Amino acid sequence: MIEIRNVKKSYRGSWLSGKAGKEVLRGVSLTIPEGGCTGLVGGSGSGKSTLARLLLGLERPDAGEILIEGVELRKWRKEHPGKMSVVFQDYTASVNPRYTVEQILLEAVTAQTGTGGRGRKDENTDLTEQARSLLRDVNLPEHLLGHYPHELSGGQLQRVCIARAVAANPKILVLDEAISSLDVTVQEQVLELLAGLRKKYSMTYLFIAHDLQAVASICGDIYFLHQGVIEEHCACRDLSRVRSSYARSLLDSVIIF
Ligand SMILES: Nc1ncnc2c1ncn2[C@@H]1O[C@H](COP(=O)(O)OP(=O)(O)O)[C@@H](O)[C@H]1O
Ligand SMILES: [Mg+2]
Repeated sequence: MIEIRNVKKSYRGSWLSGKAGKEVLRGVSLTIPEGGCTGLVGGSGSGKSTLARLLLGLERPDAGEILIEGVELRKWRKEHPGKMSVVFQDYTASVNPRYTVEQILLEAVTAQTGTGGRGRKDENTDLTEQARSLLRDVNLPEHLLGHYPHELSGGQLQRVCIARAVAANPKILVLDEAISSLDVTVQEQVLELLAGLRKKYSMTYLFIAHDLQAVASICGDIYFLHQGVIEEHCACRDLSRVRSSYARSLLDSVIIF
């Protein structure tokens, strides 16, 4: 489904801020099969979010190529609007605080269908029903439709973000540290929810996290990213046999924990 080939990305330094330039991705390749959940694990600053931004077309790679279903990324995105979606770690920053849950969801629905929010009455009823159905998908009660983001718990708000991400019926969902800000028990529930949604809507996931345990619990295979290089790739069932020192150190820390 997704083929990332030898992708490189550097950021220029700035004399104004005193920041040095940095090669963040140093020839990264990975293959993400259709309908699966592929994990990308790596420490803070290893380049995970940079790779996600390249995949989402928010930035361009300096070298290498990204193909989706055999088509160059930008061309594919034009041909399939809304078919790649994303959930970020920071759920508070990714919603408009002045929107109700219903408005947050309907913005995504109408962006997909092209319907404005001021249609005929029956159109509006239909839209509200779509918002309700999205809430049901993420196991939230319907009465939350009228609530504002600050009235929800972190877990509830991240579920709203997940509902919004699947509103356009995407083929690909990029989850960049999507559960990292949640309490451990809530993390488990959201992981279960994500696994269910992937099956229900036949989506392909790229699940990005620094937490190997979370990645291993939902993914079929895992790429280990360390300082901008893929150090190892393995199927989850072969996790105990990883060889690179970086993957081993991550694995050992999980076992000790
Ligand atoms: N826009 C940017 N300009 C300069 N440096 C950046 C920019 N974005 C990320 N970086 C740097 O790239 C490195 C990798 O960042 P990131 O991809 O966010 O890592 P991760 O998500 O794995 O924590 C970090 O050292 C970060 O400071
Ligand atoms: Mg990141």
